[in-house]
Amino acid sequence: MKKNLKLAVQKKGRLSDKSMQLLRNCGLDIENFQDRLIVSATNFNLDILFLRDDDIPEYVQDNVAHIGIVGENEVLEKGLDVEIVKKLGFGRCSLSLGIPEKSKINDVNDLSNKTIATSYPNILKNYLVENNVEAKVIELSGSVEIAPSLGVADFICDLVSTGNTLKLNKLKKSFKVLDSQAALIKSKIMDEDPELKKLFDKLLERIESSLKAQKSKYIMMNIPKNSLDRIIEIIPSLKSPTVLPLSDENLLAVHAVISENKFWDINEDLKKAGASGILSLPIENIIL
Ligand code: PRP
Ligand code: ZN
Repeated sequence: MKKNLKLAVQKKGRLSDKSMQLLRNCGLDIENFQDRLIVSATNFNLDILFLRDDDIPEYVQDNVAHIGIVGENEVLEKGLDVEIVKKLGFGRCSLSLGIPEKSKINDVNDLSNKTIATSYPNILKNYLVENNVEAKVIELSGSVEIAPSLGVADFICDLVSTGNTLKLNKLKKSFKVLDSQAALIKSKIMDEDPELKKLFDKLLERIESSLKAQKSKYIMMNIPKNSLDRIIEIIPSLKSPTVLPLSDENLLAVHAVISENKFWDINEDLKKAGASGILSLPIENIIL
């Protein structure tokens, strides 16, 4: 029987939906996974394990899951021996100080002799040591945001993404300790098995092509023949643009792939150079 590559993802939380979306964008057909701990892709040798995000680095270190999708924050906190292969560009958040709405702190020195509740004691303690500040760190595994109102801690240090959790608990964000986002991690011994390595390389190639595609747009437009040189100057294309004749021989159609954030920048210039009917379309995959 062929071996399956085992991938761990967060069971329920900020990264769950986007992790599954990334896999689907890679062309993986995954059955309905509601409430199941493990599912297999029907068209790729891959098992998906749904775990608490805090546990993912350890499962991957031990090669129980060969690879995982998890926040960089969890990898740093656990300090385990796994390889960060790729940052995935979603699940962006910061590990920040949260303080009661009415409090005021200016910088890390104001934490001196205070009590701070967090699920990230290692990252926070390192940060305090680096800044020569002595404070008491209380480790809580969840619901950290209620610690100040219960009188258990003066401040908290927790992940902030939209800021809603802080707001709901009458806290505000103070300074940042760390930036984080979702990352693809891998066990350091997984690729000793050539069969698994082959599967991993194939999956990684698909992930990279899907991430690249998300950041790109396919643009099309019609232009007067005599403005072709100017239009090509304007388009910051991945490759040289495609130029096609139209039935009106004074016009040409130009197609190109550009990075998404450039689209609005060049739009005005294209129009000024005579382009019309400018379309932009999403791309599913790019294999260069
Ligand atoms: C983090 C954090 C907050 C929430 C903040 O939890 O502990 O509860 O996200 O997000 P917000 O600023 O958008 O409200 P996470 O999803 O990492 O789950 P976990 O801590 O339960 O593992
Ligand atoms: Zn967690």
